Amino acid sequence: MMKMQHAAFAVLLLASVSANADDALYRQFGEKEGLTKIVDDMYDNVLADPRTAPYFDDAPVKRIKQKIVEQFCVLLDGPCVYTGRNMKRTHEGQNIDRAAFNAVIEDLQAAMDKNGVPFHAQNRLLAKLAPMYRDVQDRE
Ligand code: HEM
Repeated sequence: MMKMQHAAFAVLLLASVSANADDALYRQFGEKEGLTKIVDDMYDNVLADPRTAPYFDDAPVKRIKQKIVEQFCVLLDGPCVYTGRNMKRTHEGQNIDRAAFNAVIEDLQAAMDKNGVPFHAQNRLLAKLAPMYRDVQDRE
């Protein structure tokens, strides 16, 4: 019985590894249409969130959303090119700290939940965003 379970697990694991070699992750976010909706919802959350809203008082939200869709698409192995500015330059001088960063991530998680992105797919995007804290923060 245990052996059967192991064999089944190995098959599942292989299936998921080979699926991830293409754009499976991007498809789990609903491709361009799904991703655009997720980023719209994320920004609705960010602009309604007292922890993050003040950072965006004078910000070009429409442009930011377009650039984030491109950037997330690239991170999800989708067929896109990121045409925005680099993360360090973009966020320089904004006094972004760990609390603000975590708040944006929570607002993204809520948007992914709302749009039915599977939990493990959510985690794969979050794992790619986490190291960007280094470039986005300018306060310890
Ligand atoms: C992993 C986390 C983050 C990513 C991937 C990200 C990504 C981006 C991107 C792609 C842009 C547009 C770049 C361009 O205009 O070419 C942008 C702009 C901006 N981001 Fe972020 N961001 C992150 C975290 C944050 C946080 C935590 C805050 C503040 C709470 C923030 C505030 C802003 C603001 C205010 C702008 C507009 C800057 C300007 O145009 O002058 N970002 N971000």
